[in-house]
Amino acid sequence: MPSTPPTSTLRDLETAARAAAQTAYAPYSQFRVGAAVLTSSGKIFRGCNVENASYGLCNCAERTAIFTAAAEGEREIDAVVVYTPTATPTSPCGACRQVINEFGPDAFVVSICDGSERIEKRLSALLPDAFGPKNLA
Ligand code: THU
Repeated sequence: MPSTPPTSTLRDLETAARAAAQTAYAPYSQFRVGAAVLTSSGKIFRGCNVENASYGLCNCAERTAIFTAAAEGEREIDAVVVYTPTATPTSPCGACRQVINEFGPDAFVVSICDGSERIEKRLSALLPDAFGPKNLA
């Protein structure tokens, strides 16, 4: 299991997730989300939600960040931070939990918002008994 990131790294992830929300493309929901992932190489990748007029093609911030990391060659995710501009934190949707599982079955997942409340859970708690690469090995 990846260790819990140090406070300074978590702070960097939170700053990146908040900044990412600024470029969210959310003309339909107006729900602007930012995410940041920490990979095992120590790099931070960020992403925002990108919506589409064909609503089913909307991509969440978490998946944008993870796909960006994967496209850069990263294969292990140690932590994910998701920011929503809301009073209470938002936990990743089911599809994003499945995508996080691919690269970080025990990733440390943090949800932050504009209030003081936060959620901190391991992906394995958010998606127990997950189907993943191990099932195809
Ligand atoms: N969304 C995310 O980007 N991440 C989440 O964790 C929850 C939902 C996006 C998808 C869609 O663009 C908008 O928020 C409303 O569902």
